[in-house]
Amino acid sequence: MIEKYWGLKLKPFLNTPDLKFLYPSSEYTESFARLIYNIKEIKGGIALIIGEIGTGKTMLLRSIASTLEKDKFKIATIINPVLTPNQFLCNAIQSFGEENPARSKFRILRQLEKILYAGKNEGLTLTLLIDEAQLLCRRVLEEIRLLSNYETEDSKLLQIILFGQPELDKKIKDFKAFLQRIAIRYHLGPLSQKETEEYINHRLKIAKGVKRQIFDKRSIREIYRFSKGIPRLINHICQNALFVGYSQNVKLITKDIICDVVNELMVESDAKD
Ligand SMILES: Nc1ncnc2c1ncn2[C@@H]1O[C@H](COP(=O)(O)OP(=O)(O)O)[C@@H](O)[C@H]1O
Ligand SMILES: [Mg+2]
Repeated sequence: MIEKYWGLKLKPFLNTPDLKFLYPSSEYTESFARLIYNIKEIKGGIALIIGEIGTGKTMLLRSIASTLEKDKFKIATIINPVLTPNQFLCNAIQSFGEENPARSKFRILRQLEKILYAGKNEGLTLTLLIDEAQLLCRRVLEEIRLLSNYETEDSKLLQIILFGQPELDKKIKDFKAFLQRIAIRYHLGPLSQKETEEYINHRLKIAKGVKRQIFDKRSIREIYRFSKGIPRLINHICQNALFVGYSQNVKLITKDIICDVVNELMVESDAKD
């Protein structure tokens, strides 16, 4: 109903990593290009993407997974890495398509090795994408380091990308052996003010049936001020603003509406604390 009121066909600000809505910000574009280059050209092993909550790490992971050609890459994704080393390895094995992971560490590693060499023989680049990597424990980080040891004379057999919040940096700061394996590290930052405006308009355009302005200039400045350019917060504020605008029967979202929305959201999050 709210979408219809605003002349939209889809919900424009859902906090889901829906690639249809992907907005290529400058940081997104650069991190994407560097990851693809590392995987396709250098085959250099471990890559690290660090970003605050809500900056688009999971969106980037999804985008990488959907871009890599299925006939050249075999991709495994681990989205909840709160695991013991064995569970982690089994999870990777299953995610690479082997239904029955072994039980003993020795056999698990043999199985994984087989998957890696089979992939190589089939001309596939095996790629492991790990989300929420700040949650990895030290022992699993050690396994990941060891996995990056599998290599031929000119490239690694397994490409690994870790997507994590800044705590991940702290975790590996003193882990020299791990640090040395990192081929690239990129910090995915928030959007600039100009990008925040483009981001909002981009999502509206994708969701839209009719073309007309919904957020005025000052409201967008206010959204930037409160969200600091973090996509998840921008979505949250905009989604609520569409609702408030609809219930007040206005045709344009103004700065005042954004202030009301943000006050309400802050009260909500205070109540949760
Ligand atoms: N580049 C982007 N283009 C469009 N939407 C984005 C982009 N980055 C993030 N988002 C939106 O913000 C939400 C939060 O991003 P997410 O990838 O979950 O952040 P993180 O994993 O860093 O916490 C996503 O669900 C998506 O709706
Ligand atoms: Mg995420």
